[in-house]
Formats: sequence, structure tokens, C-alpha cells
Amino acid sequence: MVGFSINKESTVEKDLSQRWQQEWQKNPKRNLCVCYDVPKEEVMQAIEKGAGSLEEVSSQTYACQGAGCCERQVERLLAFYRAHQQSAEDEESN
Ligand code: FES
Repeated sequence: MVGFSINKESTVEKDLSQRWQQEWQKNPKRNLCVCYDVPKEEVMQAIEKGAGSLEEVSSQTYACQGAGCCERQVERLLAFYRAHQQSAEDEESN
């Protein structure tokens, strides 16, 4: 077997950090929370303004206050933003 090494963890982190910008391009006006008619862009703006948890996003936007069916989507956006922030910090320190 031919061996090669890939820093899988940093590749995953880089992919996640790029996903934040990609999410802004992918239909930001669609409702992320259909129970409360909350567009994805409203959730993303809340995250950029400092909402750092599902609970904070929910209290600021009303997302996730219905049946909770959009919680995983909000958690994904939070993860993308954290990776995006970490990537920006890493670039600043280099
Ligand atoms: S879609 Fe957000 S709580 Fe149901």
C-alpha cells in the first residue's frame, strides 16, 4: 500500500471556514426556520453580531422556537462561523 499523509483535520477546518462565505451566496433569503418564517440571512446576521449559541440565535431571531426542526441548521451555521473566525485569526497571527 502506498502511504501518504494528509492533515485531514486542517483540511476539514478550512472547508468549514469557507462554508460561511458560501452560505451567504446560497439563497440567503430562504426561510431557514419555516415555523417562524426566519430567513437564513437574519440568522447569519445575528451570528455575525455576536450570537454564539443556539439559545442566543433563537432569542434574537425566533428561529428554533417552533418544533425545533431547524436547530441542526443553526448549529451548522454556528460551526461554519466559528471556523471562519478561527481561520481569520490564524491568518492574522501568521
Ligand atoms: S423550522 Fe425552526 S423551529 Fe421549526
